[in-house]
Amino acid sequence: MRTHEQTVQQQFDPRARAYLTSAVHASGPDLAHASGLARQTAAGAGRALDVGCGAGHLAVALAPHVEHLVALDPSPAMLSTVASTAAERGSSRIEVRQGSAESLPFAAGSFNLVGTRYSAHHWRRLEVAVRDMYRVLAPGGHMLIIDTLGAEGALTDTYMQAMELLRDVSHVRNRSVTEWRSLLGLAGLSELEHREWPTRLEFSSWVARMRTPADRVAAIRDIQAAAPREVKEALAIEADGSFTIRTGLFWLRKA
Ligand SMILES: C[S@@+](CC[C@H](N)C(=O)[O-])C[C@H]1O[C@@H](n2cnc3c(N)ncnc32)[C@H](O)[C@@H]1O
Repeated sequence: MRTHEQTVQQQFDPRARAYLTSAVHASGPDLAHASGLARQTAAGAGRALDVGCGAGHLAVALAPHVEHLVALDPSPAMLSTVASTAAERGSSRIEVRQGSAESLPFAAGSFNLVGTRYSAHHWRRLEVAVRDMYRVLAPGGHMLIIDTLGAEGALTDTYMQAMELLRDVSHVRNRSVTEWRSLLGLAGLSELEHREWPTRLEFSSWVARMRTPADRVAAIRDIQAAAPREVKEALAIEADGSFTIRTGLFWLRKA
């Protein structure tokens, strides 16, 4: 029997190239915004950590604005993709490190900026991870959270999470803004800014990226067909199965 951590590695390790070229991951207004936030703050002077770096799109966006950036991920294939990208760009500022969000291999207060993008919905113990990200952040440092959001309404949320899990068995949960705020507030972080953008998931590339087996693709189509009107409208489900969720960004500060 596999643990969740083994499932994550099994899902992501063979798919590092697909994440490097994925339009959803390689671009998006959230990346440009994140880069602007790092540029405008004192965090730009220091050390940064990207938790769940994947193919490194957030790491590459932040690196020009910091002295040194550690890109962390449990997947060795993702880390070698980031290392090659950094080498191709001649960026000696990016260092890769294997590890997981729930147990960060760094001393307290090591970073001025701790960020994560499109990874937290895979974390089995989000509360533990947020506490550890807080621990490695220096006083006055900034935290940047970017992730796909859960829906506030239970019905739409259930359909969304079901589609996500069928597509990728390493999916744990897209958290709603309300869930994120309560968790981040409990950790003692003050919210400086919150932004949201629509993210359209084009069906064929969304399932191809994860190599979702055909029977699960069919199950996603079944539940889309069965979805009530309010869910179809809330997720803007299209005839080909593409649908739109929201990406949320939280910019926070440790006292
Ligand atoms: C969609 S990719 C990340 C995308 C990337 N951050 C970007 O900006 O394009 C999700 C990544 O989260 C990583 N991941 C999953 N569980 C994790 C955990 N518990 N701690 C840290 N990273 C994790 C996966 O290995 C995968 O590389």
